[in-house]
Amino acid sequence: MLLIKTREHLIERLATLEKNECLGLVPTMGALHIGHAALVNRAVEENNAVVVSIFVNPTQFNNSDDLDKYPLTLKADLEVLEKISKDIIVFTPSIEEMYHDEIKSTNYDFGGLEHVMEGAFRTGHFDGVGTIVESLLTLVKPDKAYFGEKDFQQLQIIKKLTEIRNIPVTIIGCPIVREANGLAYSSRNERLSKNIRNEASFIYKTLKSAKNLFGTESAMIVKDWVTNQFEQHPELKLEYVEITQANTLKPVVKKQKNKKYRAFIAVYAEGVRLIDNIALN
Ligand code: PAF
Repeated sequence: MLLIKTREHLIERLATLEKNECLGLVPTMGALHIGHAALVNRAVEENNAVVVSIFVNPTQFNNSDDLDKYPLTLKADLEVLEKISKDIIVFTPSIEEMYHDEIKSTNYDFGGLEHVMEGAFRTGHFDGVGTIVESLLTLVKPDKAYFGEKDFQQLQIIKKLTEIRNIPVTIIGCPIVREANGLAYSSRNERLSKNIRNEASFIYKTLKSAKNLFGTESAMIVKDWVTNQFEQHPELKLEYVEITQANTLKPVVKKQKNKKYRAFIAVYAEGVRLIDNIALN
């Protein structure tokens, strides 16, 4: 497996690819889990060459404590990737390599997608994500780039980013991968105690029940029902629940048959912030 640390070296390596070879990119912040492995496996299946970037992007953390606690597990990450394919190009740049002298994000207008849910609770988060993803896409110039649907809002924003910046790439959203109890895989799960990690299965259970309820009830009733479920839970604290149109992330005013809807949730467990979402129809 080839480990590359500088932009210059990466550009040199990518220049050796044939013009007709399909190149895939999987951007990550490391601490790789089964959810990431699913993205990388798909990228390996669908492309002739794959770059996996591992870079903990400081500008997307609105909370410095969260950044400090972010697990750095490069050795284990490389083992995960090595098992998938020995041909993966792993890009692990330093902060200076990606940001030069100024660790600062660009201000984007994502047409309002950035103001709701994660954007509302994590000021500047999507400017940070946009900055690093734009930088990686323009550096690697992949044909396809892979992102998980657990961060569904991020996925919509990245699609918008490629549209507003005219970046010729196909953005591929991959389904959420869940632990045996239904909890969506996240590097943050490692910070939960065994008991609470088990309790957190309540998040997906509630989302599935919300989906059933949405078959007959309004979005408002479903939201109230979810809020009430969490009010009764002693360990899990609901930050938000939203029901929106899937692509625009606009709140549902009145359900329409031809529209796709999705429920989104953010919850605190033992001070760890967990997010999840589900397609409602
Ligand atoms: O989803 C993530 O891990 C990050 O937000 C990403 C896309 C790698 C950008 O840093």
